[in-house]
Amino acid sequence: MTDKTKVLLTGDRPTGKLHLGHYVGSIKNRVALQGQYDKAFYMVADVQGLTDNAENPEKVRNNAIEVVLDNLACGLDPAKTTFFIQSEVPEIAELTVFFLNLVTLARLKRNPTVKDEMTQKGYGEDVNAGFLIYPVSQAADILAFKANVIPVGIDQVPHIEQTNDILQKFNSLYGEVFTKVDVKLSETSRLVGIDGNAKMSKSLGNSIELSDSNEVIEKKVMQMYTDPTHIHVQDPGKVEGNVVFQYLDIFDSNKEEVAELKAQYQKGGLGDVVIKKRLIGILQEIITPIREKREFLAQDPKQIMDILKAGTEKARETARETLREVKQAMKIDYF
Ligand code: TRP
Repeated sequence: MTDKTKVLLTGDRPTGKLHLGHYVGSIKNRVALQGQYDKAFYMVADVQGLTDNAENPEKVRNNAIEVVLDNLACGLDPAKTTFFIQSEVPEIAELTVFFLNLVTLARLKRNPTVKDEMTQKGYGEDVNAGFLIYPVSQAADILAFKANVIPVGIDQVPHIEQTNDILQKFNSLYGEVFTKVDVKLSETSRLVGIDGNAKMSKSLGNSIELSDSNEVIEKKVMQMYTDPTHIHVQDPGKVEGNVVFQYLDIFDSNKEEVAELKAQYQKGGLGDVVIKKRLIGILQEIITPIREKREFLAQDPKQIMDILKAGTEKARETARETLREVKQAMKIDYF
């Protein structure tokens, strides 16, 4: 039985192929949750992708298909989840404009994820307005479909909080149109990069892609940050902050053996290569079927476009209905 009162929605910015961080942070969770609710939507967030890629439209365009391939390869099923393109649902843009009246500049500047991204990109006061307001547009992404179950990684939590602020304001001014939105965090909602950096990110160059070959996976794991003071095999090594052990904790199902390896590593006598080899095998086992399914699906790009086209039409109908209701509530339903 599906929960009739809930609508699931999630999405990705099409600015690069997706990586292991996306996989454990949200894709695995969205695949597990699809089918449990009345409706489920997956959005290619191209409008959001353009907020920091305005000068790079072909990058966004080319990656639209890549993120869909990644999600399909991981098991998101078009029979259960409606795939659509954000820019093809103009009702989202319309709703964004209405929501902008409900948000202050001070609130926008306080969003910690936006703040982090602005620092990382070196924007400062020169941030473009579209980027600064993208959480408002994200609220519209969600509420245009009256979605209330959002499986995302932990960095998206501030956006969901902002969505709830906006919908409360909307409801209090114009009447109860929207219901509270819940985040569905996965067990591992943030994966460190292979360099030990707090977040895996393609732009930081520390990611393992879901499309990486076995050779590339091996090369990347061999480069992983471990413990720089662990020089000789017999030296005692540190487990904390050691990326290989952090990954084994997440991806290795044999927790007992991992605990033994940790003890041995801390005592001394266990080389990095041994634990890296173990991790290489585990990651190759996870990624190989995804990569192979991805390669198979990529042979038929028309089929992917057909999925998107049919899904976008369906999604647009839902958004149209919501906007009708929104405009009525806002007293701008003239004709
Ligand atoms: N901000 C998300 C990301 O960077 C993508 C996204 C856009 C999204 N709109 C959304 C996620 C709505 C969940 C719900 O990955």
